[in-house]
Amino acid sequence: MRETVRRAGLATGQLGVAAGLAIVSYLFVGLVLFTAVVTLLVVGAGVLPETVLLLRRVAGFKRRRVAGWTGRAVPEAYVPLEGPLKERVRAAVSDPATWRDLRWLAAHFVYGWLLLYVSLIVWAVGAVVDGVWAGLLRRPPVLLPLVARLADLDAAWSGALLAPPPGAELVDRVAELTESRAGAVAAHGAELRRIERDLHDGAQARLVALSMRIGLAKRAYGRDPDAAAKLMDDAQDQAEEALAELRHVVRGIHPPILTDRGLVGAVRALAASSGLAVDVRDDGVEGGSRAPAAVEAAAYFVVAEALTNAAKHSGADRADVELARRATGLGVVVRDAGRGGADERGGSGLIGMRRRVAALDGKVEVSSPVGGPTVIEVELPCVW
Ligand SMILES: Nc1ncnc2c1ncn2[C@@H]1O[C@H](COP(=O)(O)OP(=O)(O)O)[C@@H](O)[C@H]1O
Ligand SMILES: [Mg+2]
Repeated sequence: MRETVRRAGLATGQLGVAAGLAIVSYLFVGLVLFTAVVTLLVVGAGVLPETVLLLRRVAGFKRRRVAGWTGRAVPEAYVPLEGPLKERVRAAVSDPATWRDLRWLAAHFVYGWLLLYVSLIVWAVGAVVDGVWAGLLRRPPVLLPLVARLADLDAAWSGALLAPPPGAELVDRVAELTESRAGAVAAHGAELRRIERDLHDGAQARLVALSMRIGLAKRAYGRDPDAAAKLMDDAQDQAEEALAELRHVVRGIHPPILTDRGLVGAVRALAASSGLAVDVRDDGVEGGSRAPAAVEAAAYFVVAEALTNAAKHSGADRADVELARRATGLGVVVRDAGRGGADERGGSGLIGMRRRVAALDGKVEVSSPVGGPTVIEVELPCVW
């Protein structure tokens, strides 16, 4: 009984707000019409994004009310209104959420008033039939649940009109995946070209020189054994250099130390050779199953780049690295207490890091306010 009364009180509040919004919707319809007209006359295109933003706030308020009443969140999916005016107007008009909000507003325009009148009548009748409010609260009220039903109805309607269609999140996800796949393909292409360059300029050039030395040595062999021996020495040096180049290329593809020592060991080795005092913390990564090789390699390159940056740019003499096994993947955090101000447009390292991680559908967050500290957080989704 008490619960019914409490709920009815809430319902009345809910309906009161619905009525308030009905009044807002009256004003809004005027504003929308005004905006539409002045936009058509071009002069007023500037007010369109502002009107849409205001509309989003009103709709957002209603979403929260509905969520509060039903206990179920009403998702919202808006296209951000950013950039120059033309972009904002285009985004505001082409965003299906704008049209959903307007539809809700129009519906509210009609049934908000209906709800208000009906609930007023219900209350008036309730007051007359049951005597006074006290009477209502004393006796099991028949009409109170009716008010609650009305509030339910209002929440159901508004929730249905304001929620994005069920496929909307999937559409967003597909767009995201398409983009990250395009990124992966581009990153893969760039990687192939880099490897091809490295092999061409490094190992291949050395092997060509090596082959020439051997040719010369073969010719000199009969008539000048000393010169031949000297040429063979050169050739051996060339062969060793070619090997070193090849090792370098291999490290760039998949650092062998990862295979030998695992991610935590490899990161500790990076830390030891970084020139900084680095504290490496491992939260459940070592031992047990390992992350896929591509994920380990990406994490390794993230730490390598972040520590190189910390040593080169931050001015700090120490850093922290955190590797964490999470249900959804591998988390990597690199922190330095340096001067901050990392700027992705200032070099290629951070951008490369972002591409590498995006190719695996992961996320990079760089926080580096001027004055520091710099924190790089990376999340690489994977199944362990
Ligand atoms: N940890 C850091 N602390 C301070 N500044 C940084 C840090 N990391 C990067 N930066 C700044 O951001 C720029 C871009 O970094 P990055 O993309 O790694 O390029 P690079 O290291 O090749 O210069 C750097 O040139 C540097 O000025
Ligand atoms: Mg760098």
